[in-house]
Amino acid sequence: MTNLREYLDKTDCKNDLKELIELIAMQAVPIREAFIANQSYADTENASGEQQAALDVWSDEHITRILMESNLVCEIASEEKTDIVRNSEAKSNYAVVMDPLDGSSLIQVNLCVGTIIGIYDNGNALSRGRDLRAAMYMLYGPMTVLTLTVGDGVYIFALKDGEYTLMQGPVTMPEGQLYGSGGLKKDWTKEHEEYISEIENKGGKLRYSGSFVADFHQILKYGGVYCYPATKDNKDGKLRLVFEANPIGFIAKQAGGEISDGKQNLLEVLPEKPSHKTPIYVGSRNIIKNIENIFKKI
Ligand code: AHG
Ligand code: MN
Ligand code: MN
Repeated sequence: MTNLREYLDKTDCKNDLKELIELIAMQAVPIREAFIANQSYADTENASGEQQAALDVWSDEHITRILMESNLVCEIASEEKTDIVRNSEAKSNYAVVMDPLDGSSLIQVNLCVGTIIGIYDNGNALSRGRDLRAAMYMLYGPMTVLTLTVGDGVYIFALKDGEYTLMQGPVTMPEGQLYGSGGLKKDWTKEHEEYISEIENKGGKLRYSGSFVADFHQILKYGGVYCYPATKDNKDGKLRLVFEANPIGFIAKQAGGEISDGKQNLLEVLPEKPSHKTPIYVGSRNIIKNIENIFKKI
């Protein structure tokens, strides 16, 4: 069985990038252990004006401390921070973007949540998603699973006895029937309503848990689409380009899928600010092309 380091040694990653990926991946252990003592909500908000879960804050502070102490990272942009954190002592040009804990509403009901990470080697956390050097997520489910790409396909590892073992890869996202959509149905736009109704008429099966990273992991395996659309009262939707769309979209693209805001490839969009919000359609290539056709038609 191949472990994470053996896989990384077969890639073109520089040693400091391998070290950084392993360091981040191993934080799944303390984060999982922190669940039981961090079940509540903090009395603070993040940059998107959302109330923070205690585990949001704990995970953000933990990963930030580990990265700063490593001196492997020159800047960190986090969903839980308003400003980018910079490290003048850094001995590398890696910039990390992160959603430390995605799916926070599920912490108190013990459903699957995760940590989403993007790594740039150009020192700029506000780069386009297409410029990512690596993207990964740790998924805290019945198993702890790491999904990783360093730009040469998508590989899935499982954590056992403190070591990640390769389970699957390179992963190819099939065309599939699963779909999930955020936003209240009463607030959906006519384009989004038409899109969902077409999917349902073709036998679409609803899969929407409240955790983007968990719902995406199903789409990666079985095919389909995850949507968090623009709504009548919120033209930018809810999710964040930098911390959620770009790393997950980069992984989707590496597996043969696509990510769009309904009109364009989101990996081409230059972030305006860390908390830049965007509508998201991510999943199988043809099903994503279909939403773009609907937006063109209407
Ligand atoms: P986060 O916990 O990082 O704020 O992300 C939550 C996101 C996403 O993970 C999930 O799919 C979506 O918000 C759920 O939103 P709704 O509760 O509005 O459906
Ligand atoms: Mn999130
Ligand atoms: Mn989050």
